[in-house]
Amino acid sequence: MARRPIRLALFAGVTVVALASAPVAAHGGAADTTAEQLIRSLGSRLVFLAVTIAVLVEGAFVYAVLKYRNSGDAKSTGHNPRFHIAFVAAVSLVLLYVGFASFQTMGALNEATATDEGPPADAVEVNVVGAQWLWTFEYPERNVTTRNTLVVPVNRTAYLNVTTRDVIHSFHVPSLGLKRDAIPGQYNELVFTPTETGEYQLYCAEYCGRGHSNMLGTVRVVNRTAYERWLDRHGGGDSTTNATTSPR
Ligand code: CUA
Repeated sequence: MARRPIRLALFAGVTVVALASAPVAAHGGAADTTAEQLIRSLGSRLVFLAVTIAVLVEGAFVYAVLKYRNSGDAKSTGHNPRFHIAFVAAVSLVLLYVGFASFQTMGALNEATATDEGPPADAVEVNVVGAQWLWTFEYPERNVTTRNTLVVPVNRTAYLNVTTRDVIHSFHVPSLGLKRDAIPGQYNELVFTPTETGEYQLYCAEYCGRGHSNMLGTVRVVNRTAYERWLDRHGGGDSTTNATTSPR
């Protein structure tokens, strides 16, 4: 009879671990940008490592509880240098792996979202200007300026010049895996190629004053025809907005 609660606890533990890792596993659909793919891959590797360690530790724990449950009073095991060395080595290996994998992903992200040679051929170039507290998007080639909504065509590289006309802001679109600081007097490039049409939430990710939490926007990824139509509709000046800040 004493085994039943243990089995029940074991079952509950495994269920909790499975449920906790399910959302991550279920998020396995196609990523919308290379950047997001890189971040997702790092996330799933770390979750896999964490779940493996959790199962091993819990397994050893349950095994010890079952095996030694009737062995009387506990005695100290004393000092065991081998165990200490093994423990420190195992923890160091895990931390080294986490550090290395994150560092490598950071490098790959930089490579995927920046170029040294300016805008790639055929890229859609947009100047992104942060200001207290709104985002302005300028399409210099088409003389279009919009507020808080960035429209880009799907499957075509977008080349953003991110800057600000006052304090530091940060252009952050989590579901596309994009983030770039907007710094006064500086133009930070952000390159990406969206592969799925849709609407993505844009946030300001750097505290910039009273209106920071309302400094939101939308990134709309549309097909090529819709993009051209949209440009035509808003072209020839800025009928849609009174924000005409020039970043240069
Ligand atoms: Cu802009 Cu926070």
